[in-house]
Amino acid sequence: MDALRNDRIPNHVAVIMDGNGRWAERQGLERTDGHRAGVESVRQIVRAANDLGVGWLTLYAFSSENWSRPKHEVELLMSLPEAYFEQELPEAIEKNVRILSIGRDDRLPPGVRKSLGHAREQTAMNSGMRLVFALSYGSRGEIVDAVSRLLKDHEIGAIDPEAIDEKTFAAYLDQPEMPDVDLLIRTGGEQRVSNFLLWQIAYAEIVTTECMWPEFRRDHLEEAIATFRSRERRFGLTSAQVRGS
Ligand code: IPE
Ligand code: IPE
Ligand code: MG
Repeated sequence: MDALRNDRIPNHVAVIMDGNGRWAERQGLERTDGHRAGVESVRQIVRAANDLGVGWLTLYAFSSENWSRPKHEVELLMSLPEAYFEQELPEAIEKNVRILSIGRDDRLPPGVRKSLGHAREQTAMNSGMRLVFALSYGSRGEIVDAVSRLLKDHEIGAIDPEAIDEKTFAAYLDQPEMPDVDLLIRTGGEQRVSNFLLWQIAYAEIVTTECMWPEFRRDHLEEAIATFRSRERRFGLTSAQVRGS
């Protein structure tokens, strides 16, 4: 780990935490047991990312589309955040981690909304790693909401259409200060981005792993970061330009 520390550590790591259900089913357990086990991975990865010096960690915990899963599965998933925040908030405060969220809060059960709001408030002054939970989140919805907010500002004359550029637009997204994603990790073996951070992942390096989320640990994160470091990010330039020759 020491060799990795701060040596080209991606500033923004985003994770699609997939594979809980399959992990559980393979062991003859219920899908919901997989979600419960996944919480431990969240704990460990948050700790590891903070130790490594990651600036922003965004975790896809529940998508807009996940609302259509069987009722008992949705209920179980919605019972996890409260306990998680209750247990992890003291450590976040101690480690100067700031908890944020993206997604449509209004669909969340009151208990989840309350504990998430409490976690955000209690860490609002923290200046260390930004830990963002994507809960009830879909990127297309986020973009549509941004357009709607922008149009409202236009109506009251607060924005000049000629002056809208990418930076102005991004400021209307759920987390205006969120930087572009550097490293996007998807566990669970699928090769897709689903509905996650579509605006923010332009030029992100994508690392997918067969590892199911409940088994994802610090070593896997370090391996993904090592892969990230081995890539040449060109942002549309030529390799020679990037190497400065
Ligand atoms: C990810 O695991 C957790 C959520 C989507 C909430 P899944 O529940 O999607 O697990 P698989 O993909 O069915 O194995
Ligand atoms: C993506 O996983 C969403 C989360 C990890 C919260 P899904 O399991 O819902 O994605 P798809 O349906 O396989 O693309
Ligand atoms: Mg899945």
